[in-house]
Amino acid sequence: MKKACAVIPSLLSANFLNLQKDLDEIHSIGIKKLHYDVMDGHFVNNISFGEEIFKQIDSPIWDIDVHLMVSNPIKKTRDFIAYGAKKVSFHLEVIDEDFSKYKKEVLNLKKEFPDVKLGLAINPPSDIKKADRWIDLFDFFLIMSVVPGKGGQSFIEGSEKKIKYLNDYRIKNHKDYFIEVDGGINDVTGKLCLDNGVDYLVCGSFFFKSTNKAELIKKIIQ
Ligand code: DX5
Ligand code: ZN
Repeated sequence: MKKACAVIPSLLSANFLNLQKDLDEIHSIGIKKLHYDVMDGHFVNNISFGEEIFKQIDSPIWDIDVHLMVSNPIKKTRDFIAYGAKKVSFHLEVIDEDFSKYKKEVLNLKKEFPDVKLGLAINPPSDIKKADRWIDLFDFFLIMSVVPGKGGQSFIEGSEKKIKYLNDYRIKNHKDYFIEVDGGINDVTGKLCLDNGVDYLVCGSFFFKSTNKAELIKKIIQ
């Protein structure tokens, strides 16, 4: 299924010296969703941006997807929710080490913040079957198709199989989670992911490098 608004720009590749211009352009072509990559210099090597910049960008016109590449995801999720975040993902690779502890933490978050959508991000080396025991706890899944930590990398072949796995499971079991893919998305890899059942394509460098973003979106999703 192809969706008209399947592309979510990743702000990591935006021009931070002229962010408002990039945001205006995104808004002008009818995109409401943004992807906001938080890196802590520990779970991944780089450091990106945190709550303060999120707060400045956040406004009722945007639906911002906060991707936490951090080693302390529960605390950071709470921090971002306190700053207004409504959609937050964090990594399987952190929480899978202690299922019962993090299951409780996730259930607490869901109970305290029922209007916040929680996502589970899954790195390229992780077996997608590891998601099985988490599947009923999350509202969405973020398949990483590059090693997280920076933009501009190439899509790792085979990532689309993880999307297919989650999509097949969703259909078979009548689940309503949604599936996003993040990393190396362009017109070719984007189509591949859409054909395998992804709902949203996070797109950083390919999107921001383009001088005609409206055309680029059409090219990706048609
Ligand atoms: C990578 C980030 C991505 C990144 C994608 O760690 O999670 O969101 O911005 O950028 P591209 O599309 O350039 O791979
Ligand atoms: Zn991301």
